[in-house]
Amino acid sequence: MSQVAPSAPQVVPVKGLGPGFGAVTVVLTIVNIAMTLAVLYLPLDFLLPSESNAASDSALAVDGLFKFMTVFGVAITIYVTGYVAYFAWVFRRRAGEPINTVGVPIHDSTKLEIWWTVLPTLLLVVLMVYTIVVWKQLQFPNTAASLTTEVVAHQFYFEFRYPGLQGSIYSPKGEMHLPAGRPVKILVTAGEGDVIHQFWVPEFRQKIAAVPGMVTELNITPIRTGRYDIACSEYCGKNHSIMQAKLVVDSPADFDKWLAAARVAAAKAGPTIDLATGDAGAGKTAFTQKCAACHNAAGGFDAKIVGPGLLHIIDDPAHPKLVDGSAPTPEDIENILVKGYTGPIGAMPNRQANGLTDGDIANLVAYLVSLK
Ligand code: CUA
Repeated sequence: MSQVAPSAPQVVPVKGLGPGFGAVTVVLTIVNIAMTLAVLYLPLDFLLPSESNAASDSALAVDGLFKFMTVFGVAITIYVTGYVAYFAWVFRRRAGEPINTVGVPIHDSTKLEIWWTVLPTLLLVVLMVYTIVVWKQLQFPNTAASLTTEVVAHQFYFEFRYPGLQGSIYSPKGEMHLPAGRPVKILVTAGEGDVIHQFWVPEFRQKIAAVPGMVTELNITPIRTGRYDIACSEYCGKNHSIMQAKLVVDSPADFDKWLAAARVAAAKAGPTIDLATGDAGAGKTAFTQKCAACHNAAGGFDAKIVGPGLLHIIDDPAHPKLVDGSAPTPEDIENILVKGYTGPIGAMPNRQANGLTDGDIANLVAYLVSLK
């Protein structure tokens, strides 16, 4: 048997960039121009961030950068995939040619190497400069804030504080309000001993970390009235996914009205719960609706669901005292229902977050005291 000698690779007989390179370049350029115009001017709200779903000045800046990057991304995609397809076709092995046919080998093409170094470098430098300009606008706003609000994130609700407003507003029942057209400073942190959360309004395009013991800030001017979602966008535990709130951007006049009314309401609302009116039967119903997901009424302290079991809450020897050192009283139970709890046993939202009325609290205290 004679050995088959390896033959030298045959070269596809196509010179230079091929016969259709100019035509392909024209077609790709037309497609690119059409796509660029579409990105810039078609209402692609479902696909791209757009002015109609931007609610702050910084959102417009971020969207501008995003569109700029999209335009270049579209161009790169069209030219790269277009030329790859074209060259694959032009330099293909023709029918009847040997199996080891290869394309024209190109080595040491200084011209090519300069092109593919200079072009991406220029593009990246432009992107870097534009990014720095936008970043500077987001981080160092030159407008003086007309309003400073505070957001405190807790497991698993948001607390909103306003100047001159006694008491806080709690999600999900209460809503955050901001005035359109006025620069605002939003100071963000997390509750003491809580975990890291993140304050995010998608229509602002910015997320800001809520870290215990640290204050971060968001400086924006809301530009559009409306209702927007606030979400926690940092995994913070079991109920992270339901840690949501609503933001209402009001006209400046409506905002002033709202804040004035909230101040009056907060000043009026005092500690007025009359525990003597509590009804244990109604308390049992309220417990089933609002507490039973986390607390067991049929077992002692160690019968935990999320929080401890509450049977014998008043005289359970296994139950750590509700208030350090002293035996728990109905008022202690009321206090925890009102303020919530964060500590070694875990975390429970306060009354606003749990949606408890004065009547609910009196009834729940009566019911819990009866569990013995
Ligand atoms: Cu709070 Cu996730």
